[in-house]
Amino acid sequence: MKFLIINGPNLNMLGIREPEIYGAQDFRALQRFIYDCCLEEKIEPVLFQSNHEGAIVDRIQAAYRDADGIIINPAAYTHTSVAILDALKAVAIPAVEVHLSDVGSRESFRQISYPGMACIKTYAGLGFEGYRQAIRYLKDWLIEREQAKK
Ligand code: DQA
Repeated sequence: MKFLIINGPNLNMLGIREPEIYGAQDFRALQRFIYDCCLEEKIEPVLFQSNHEGAIVDRIQAAYRDADGIIINPAAYTHTSVAILDALKAVAIPAVEVHLSDVGSRESFRQISYPGMACIKTYAGLGFEGYRQAIRYLKDWLIEREQAKK
C-alpha cells in the first residue's frame, strides 16, 4: 500500500513558526515521524511539501493510479482552495485530512475546509499524533473496502 503524504504552505517552518500553536519540533522531525509511522504500518510513504497551490494540485494529479491513499495537511489552503478540493475529487483517491492545531477552536476564517469536503475523515488538534491516526485509519478503511469487494 502506497500513501502520498502532502504538507502545505509554511509547514516547512515548523519549530520556528508560532511554536505555542504548532509545537517546538521542526519539519524534519515531522517527516521522520510520518515516515516511521508508515513503516510501522507497512505502508510505502511518499512525502511531499510545497508552499504553492498549483504544485500541490500537480502532485495530487500525478498520484492518479499510483497512490492508494492520500494524507493531506493543506495548511492555509484548507480555508481557500477549491482547486485542491477539485484535484482530490478528480483522482478519487481516498484521502484523510490532518491539522496539527485544533482549527475548530481558532479564528472564524479557519472554520471552513474545502479539501476536507473530499476527505473521508479529519484529525485536528493532536499534533504529530494526528498523522499516525490518519495513516492507521486510512489503512484500515482501504483494507475494509477491499474485503467488501470479495
Ligand atoms: C494548519 C491549520 C491552518 O489553519 C493553518 O493555516 C496552517 C496549519 C494546522 O496544521 O494546524 O498552516 O493546517
